[in-house]
Formats: sequence, structure tokens, C-alpha cells
Amino acid sequence: MRSRSFGRTGRSVGEIGFGAWAIGDAWGQVDDEEAIAALHAALDAGVDFIDTADVYGDGHSERLIARVLKERGGARPLVATKVGRRLPQQTVAGYSEENLNAFVERSLRNLATDCLDLVQLHCPPTDLYYHPEAFERMERLIGQGKIRHYGVSVERVEEALKAIEYPGVVSVQIVFNMFRLRPAERLFRQAQERNVAIIARVPLASGLLTGKFARDTRFENTDHRQFNRNGEAFDVGETFSGVPYEVGLAAVERIRPLVSGDATMAQLALRWILMFDAVTVAIPGARNLRQAMANIAAADLPPLADEMMDAIAQVYQEDVKPYVHNRW
Ligand SMILES: NC(=O)c1ccc[n+]([C@@H]2O[C@H](COP(=O)([O-])OP(=O)(O)OC[C@H]3O[C@@H](n4cnc5c(N)ncnc54)[C@H](OP(=O)(O)O)[C@@H]3O)[C@@H](O)[C@H]2O)c1
Repeated sequence: MRSRSFGRTGRSVGEIGFGAWAIGDAWGQVDDEEAIAALHAALDAGVDFIDTADVYGDGHSERLIARVLKERGGARPLVATKVGRRLPQQTVAGYSEENLNAFVERSLRNLATDCLDLVQLHCPPTDLYYHPEAFERMERLIGQGKIRHYGVSVERVEEALKAIEYPGVVSVQIVFNMFRLRPAERLFRQAQERNVAIIARVPLASGLLTGKFARDTRFENTDHRQFNRNGEAFDVGETFSGVPYEVGLAAVERIRPLVSGDATMAQLALRWILMFDAVTVAIPGARNLRQAMANIAAADLPPLADEMMDAIAQVYQEDVKPYVHNRW
């Protein structure tokens, strides 16, 4: 797998990472043994970037990662976690020094390490980006040797533009996929100019872009694709990228004929993301070894032709843009 430099950190990571939300919670029943096998297989195949958060299964995802890394020994991947969502309510005041320290201490324990590679503020309220003292607190955590770097995971492009004004922010995580093109228009150039890493999350639009769903597909009640379809529990943009399910299914049918050769639609969706130089790493979620391996193989596909990129952009313009473009 090709590597890309991770912003100003001096580190490089493979283009396809591992998104570890599904192995924590909110995706229906996920088997720990399968999750562990998926992580091992991904690391064996050269994945060296894992994204998790302290709230994924209330620390379960972090602890599974720690267990796998302990079993393996040797070189550690770059493990990015997130803090802030354990707050009962998202307020600026919640991001106090005391709370941030406590979150970081807990993630240090969960991940069984003495210094966290990368801590991202986990979709904090928009106002937080206008409070430099929150970012100064992250600087102090670096000074204390508890974290190596910090970044942000944002909902909106404008939050990212504000966040990268802080010189200590090394990375921005944002929803970017065939159903979310605005980051490429509005954010990527500025991020590149400041040498800020871009982590492309929800790259498969929660699985929609695999092409495997139909109108009558049923999701478990504990799967956010069921319980958050209208944003009942958290930002609806995290579920199917915020695209109404039926609209997404119709757009997928327009993309399906573009898939050719041995590649799957999921692999095409991931290779599409890698066409953007500003993207450092795409982090598909995988709940088992088969998915993890299929996703990694996308990095081996040849670059997509201009006509293909245009055809996908056209589907976005005509079918998807009205639902998402001005929301995030
Ligand atoms: N606020 C935030 O910061 C935030 C929010 C969301 C996500 N994230 C991060 O971004 C990562 C990726 O996003 P995501 O997991 O939400 O969505 P995603 O990567 O777009 O979709 C992942 C889901 O698609 C299905 N899938 C994956 N690979 C597949 C394959 N090859 N073939 C068929 N199905 C496949 C799996 O679910 P099924 O098998 O059940 O269909 C999997 O759980 C997360 O794991 C997390 O690390 C962060």
C-alpha cells in the first residue's frame, strides 16, 4: 500500500486505514473474535492507521485495539482516538481542562499506552472552535507528554476551516465520499497549504456505497442505520452521509454500471477518495476480516479515468447535492 505523509507530524501512513467504530457499538451485533481477526488481518496487510474514540462501546473499541497490539508486539500503528463525546451535553464549558485531562487519562488506560499518538476533539459544538483556550489545553497535554499530537473531527466544512487556523491542529477528520463533495471544493486546498492531514471518514456512506442494500433491507434496532436514520441520536450526517436512504439507493444504481473488472463498488468508492491528493487516509469501518481485506485491496486499483470522475460528480450534482451540500 502506498503511504502519504501525515501532515506536519513527520509520520507517514498507508492510504487505507481501519475505522474502529463498528467494532465498538452502534452497528448491531458485532462479534469480538471477528473484530479481533479483522484488526490482525488489517495490520498484517500493512494498515498502520487506526481510528477509534473513547465512546465507541464506551471504550470497548479502544480496549480491543490495545489487546490486539499487545498480542502482536512490535511496531505500533498510529492510533487516533477522540475525546469529548462522553460529556452528557455538548457545551463549550464541558471542554474544561479537568474534563479533557480525565478523558485523556482514560484513553491512555484503555489503549494501554503512556502517550496517545493523536487525540481528536470529537465533533465539538461549533462554538468551541472560537475558544482558543480549548486548544491551549491540548497543547498543555502535549507538554505533559500525554499526547503526541491533536486534531479535530468535524461535522462541517466551516468548522474545519476555523480549526486549521490553530497552528497545533495537525489533522481534520471529515465525512468525505462520493456522496459528500463539498470538502474537496472548500477545504482541501487550505488544508494542503497548511500541511494539515485529512482523514476521510464514512467513506462508504455507512455501507450504502457498497451497493449491497435494497429498499427492504432491515437493520437491527441497535444499528444507527435504524435508530439514527433521521438524526434521532446524533448528527444525521454520520448515518448514510445524511443522504435520505431511498435517494442514496437510487444514486447507487446510477453508479453501479461504472463498476468494472474485478473491483467491487466498495473498492471503487474507496479508490475514488484516494484520487484526491489532499486526503491523507481513508478509514473504512470493517466488522470482519473479509471486509477489512476487501477494503485494503482498493488501494491496489489503478487511478480512475477523468470520465469516471466526471460521471460520479454528475450523479452527485443531480441526485445527492440538494440534500447535503449546504448542510455540512
Ligand atoms: N464523528 C466522528 O468522528 C465519526 C463518525 C463516523 C465515523 N467515524 C470514523 O470513521 C470510520 C468509518 O466510518 P463508518 O464506519 O461510520 O462508515 P463506513 O466506513 O462508510 O461504513 C462502514 C460499514 O460498511 C460495511 N462495510 C465495510 N466494508 C465493507 C465491504 N468491503 N463490503 C461490504 N460492506 C462493507 C460494514 O457494515 P455492515 O457490514 O453492517 O453493512 C461497515 O461497518 C468509523 O469506523 C470511525 O472510525 C468518525
